Amino acid sequence: MSKELAQLTPELKAFIEEWKEKPGNLIMVLHQVQQTYGYIPREVAIEVSELLNVPLAKIYGVVTFYNFFKLQKAGKYIIQVCLGTACYLRGGDDLMKELERQLGIGVNGTTPDGLFSIEAVRCLGCCGLAPVIVVNGEVHGKLETKSIAGIIEKYRKLG
Ligand code: FES
Repeated sequence: MSKELAQLTPELKAFIEEWKEKPGNLIMVLHQVQQTYGYIPREVAIEVSELLNVPLAKIYGVVTFYNFFKLQKAGKYIIQVCLGTACYLRGGDDLMKELERQLGIGVNGTTPDGLFSIEAVRCLGCCGLAPVIVVNGEVHGKLETKSIAGIIEKYRKLG
């Protein structure tokens, strides 16, 4: 695929064909697209719009309404910031703001180098370590905002 432009796979085309006339097809197709690419690539959204005969604006309306759908490919390192009650009360929100500031992206965003994404999550089940962030499954607990730079650096060095 040149320039990494995503295209509808034959499987997705067949799926759309199968669902074309059925009610609720747009959501089903978008789920399938996200399962295939990990997000909803714009060029695929355009193809879906043409094949289902649904305006592109409607597709983006659905995609932005449901948190589940992502518009960008996730970064190599997915930073999950716990905003569950225990973490929130101990400064989870400040950790989130610091991450956003240092990485220059918002929640559900991905850095331009494709290295980091930030997600907000509810209780990760380790409240005793609050506030907690998890990077690709690795738990970092009892954090202060000043710890954030070092954590980012650690993963950046891994590349
Ligand atoms: S609230 Fe954050 S781990 Fe439970």
